[in-house]
Amino acid sequence: MQTVGISPENTTIPQEKYELGKITVVPLSPAIGAEVVGVDISEPLPADIIVAIKQAWHAHLVLLFRDQTLTPEQHIYFSSYFGTPQSPNRTSFTPMTEKYPEIIEVMNVGMEKARLDRSLGNAEAFWHTDMSYKDIPPAASALYALEIPPEGGNTCFCNMYRAYDDLPPDLLAMAQDRTAVHDASRNSAGKLRPGFVDEKDPRKTPGPRHPLVRTHPETGRKALFLGRRPYSYIPGLPVDESEALLNCLWSHAGQEKYAWCHAWKVGDLLLWDNRCAMHRRDPFDAAQRRVLHRTQIAGDRPY
Ligand code: SIN
Repeated sequence: MQTVGISPENTTIPQEKYELGKITVVPLSPAIGAEVVGVDISEPLPADIIVAIKQAWHAHLVLLFRDQTLTPEQHIYFSSYFGTPQSPNRTSFTPMTEKYPEIIEVMNVGMEKARLDRSLGNAEAFWHTDMSYKDIPPAASALYALEIPPEGGNTCFCNMYRAYDDLPPDLLAMAQDRTAVHDASRNSAGKLRPGFVDEKDPRKTPGPRHPLVRTHPETGRKALFLGRRPYSYIPGLPVDESEALLNCLWSHAGQEKYAWCHAWKVGDLLLWDNRCAMHRRDPFDAAQRRVLHRTQIAGDRPY
């Protein structure tokens, strides 16, 4: 098996299983995603393993750790290798308990109706970046599977470095110095969040303006940064031009060649980088239980 050197300058994604320091990495698609084999993340990890995991993460953007058994404390501790775990302070999902404000329960069961109605429930979640509707969105998310339905509920990821690298020059010229508004009023299933009005005019969409092209603060690479499509708006453009440009950018980024889908098993933990990857989720049968715990890691203001 090959031993591979990975650096931010080397943007080629390895396609074969390889050794990186003391870890073994198995790429899961040509575009994005890799499994890290044989690391028990419930245990404190030595510094050289953490360095290797970070290198693999920067190369593949999404890492899968299978067959894990994690307490909330262990999940939070593992997340802290990648930055500061933060409390999401949000109303769409149920924070776990006051004891674990860093954990969000992503689930379709065990909530009172009002909360279930506001959450993703069993719905499809369209392409988005977690909480990009905040001024300072989280850098990363780590989602750990406790209960998984027999089918449906797959989570898919797309590589926004690749989408940027491949932008046709005319599209790049139109996008590169512009911002877009990231809608704070609706969740990724399209449900209105509490306290917001159902505003249909994209010029009035509440939410921060983020650059359409952002620079990853750790790798220095540029990525397309779209957030979520509905009610997005490019300030400074008439609505029809903003819609046309956003449609072009989204149809470019949504190409299958940039994406990979994960079919969950209990014990999987996926760590993804919100600064260069988007994700979406398939719907699943509402009668089936799906329960995951998510942490998120504090990020920087996109630039
Ligand atoms: C999310 O979009 O953060 C939820 C992903 C999932 O439930 O798989």
